[in-house]
Amino acid sequence: MSDPLRIALAGLGTVGTGVIELLETNRSTIERRAGRALQIVAVNARDRTRDRGVDLSPFAWVDDMQAMAARADVDVVLELVGGSDGPALTLARAALDEGKAFVTANKAMIAHHGLSLAEQAALRGVPLKFEAAVAGGIPVVKGLREGAAANRIERIYGILNGTCNYILSEMERTGADFDAMLAEAQAKGFAEADPTFDIEGVDAAHKLAILSAIGFGARVDFANVDATGIGEVRAADITQAGTLGYVVRLVGIASIDESDGTPALLQRVRPCLVARGHPLAAVTGPTNAVVAEGNFSGRLLFQGAGAGAGPTASAVVADLIDIARGDLGAPFSVPVEELETFPPADPGNRIGRDYIRFTVTDRPGVLAEITAAMRDAEVSIESLIQRGRDHEGGEVLVAMVTHEGPERCVTKALELLDGSPSLTAPPLVMPILKD
Ligand SMILES: NC(=O)c1ccc[n+]([C@@H]2O[C@H](COP(=O)([O-])OP(=O)(O)OC[C@H]3O[C@@H](n4cnc5c(N)ncnc54)[C@H](OP(=O)(O)O)[C@@H]3O)[C@@H](O)[C@H]2O)c1
Repeated sequence: MSDPLRIALAGLGTVGTGVIELLETNRSTIERRAGRALQIVAVNARDRTRDRGVDLSPFAWVDDMQAMAARADVDVVLELVGGSDGPALTLARAALDEGKAFVTANKAMIAHHGLSLAEQAALRGVPLKFEAAVAGGIPVVKGLREGAAANRIERIYGILNGTCNYILSEMERTGADFDAMLAEAQAKGFAEADPTFDIEGVDAAHKLAILSAIGFGARVDFANVDATGIGEVRAADITQAGTLGYVVRLVGIASIDESDGTPALLQRVRPCLVARGHPLAAVTGPTNAVVAEGNFSGRLLFQGAGAGAGPTASAVVADLIDIARGDLGAPFSVPVEELETFPPADPGNRIGRDYIRFTVTDRPGVLAEITAAMRDAEVSIESLIQRGRDHEGGEVLVAMVTHEGPERCVTKALELLDGSPSLTAPPLVMPILKD
């Protein structure tokens, strides 16, 4: 058997300690599959004194994280610290500069700096791997890079944030509103103390940018992911969607739009209505799921735990095993210099159906005003439901579903209604996911 693969591990939090535990528990299985031992030689975190529930005594403690990159006894630097910039990025650059393989679970860093890191890795001829950065334990990066490699990918979409999925599916189950379910998610450890990145769709946008790069051979373009989170979704929307046969899920969607003649990349994160029979509708709680549609494979569904110590460690160690086996594949499935630059697609080109919810004052003529705006913008209404008034003269919800049509018409209708004294809040638009 060859020499062990020697690993320097930065970050001993949820994922870092999960990796130590997994390497210990599955040592012989991993060794047989990798063809050599995977051996942590050095570790680092901020607080050396903290009891982390794992035995750190076999490893050298390194006080300066950045010093790990230059160690002669290290083949791979594993970054499990987090943050798009700061010490994680400095470590990544230093490690690749030293000609070390680099593995990370850091979606924020890969979404922002993945291209330049891939360029650096290519220059040095070393692997850069980030399976755990997208959908935690689900092997979707590998699935797209390898399993689906023979296909032209038509569309990629999925539930990419477990916190949002937990909140939405619990709102559906209990009938409670967003704030109550966010508080419950925090109490149960499914949401961070500061959940902004999750609920505003930024975390899902990071993952979508990485997935579309791999799926479409595109240069990572996080800046052009158009993300809306779930903060405006009300219990009443979920009830309304349910009446119509749908559930609400936060979905990241990426596709190539050729309707203007030049291929353009559409990347969006939106709360969407998902038909009850669709596989994503059955994905509840903190689970993630990704669908990739290949031109020969058809619909591929990847589903599993999107976070947590065990599942995320499983993805990280899969990358280490690949490196131990000598896999030098391009991080984004084609060599970084061959990744294509796509302009962002005009979302107005999208042909689809939408759920639109208005909150309006309870007075005569409001419905007529809304339907007139729809008519003038050429939006065809499939169904319209007015929810009973909360109290005399109070706020009323008007929800509608449109027939299939260009999204630019819906945008125009909302522009016509913008500033109307009849609306008590900006309307909420949720696309209906196409099968
Ligand atoms: N948690 C998940 O389920 C999950 C899933 C997928 C991907 N990820 C990604 O995996 C990475 C790690 O996540 P995590 O949940 O394991 O985070 P975590 O529990 O907060 O652990 C972070 C670790 O990094 C160390 N650290 C933070 N700042 C540091 C600094 N300036 N210098 C040295 N060490 C520093 C911390 O040290 P101390 O312990 O001493 O404070 C801690 O050990 C992140 O990129 C995250 O996005 C996590």
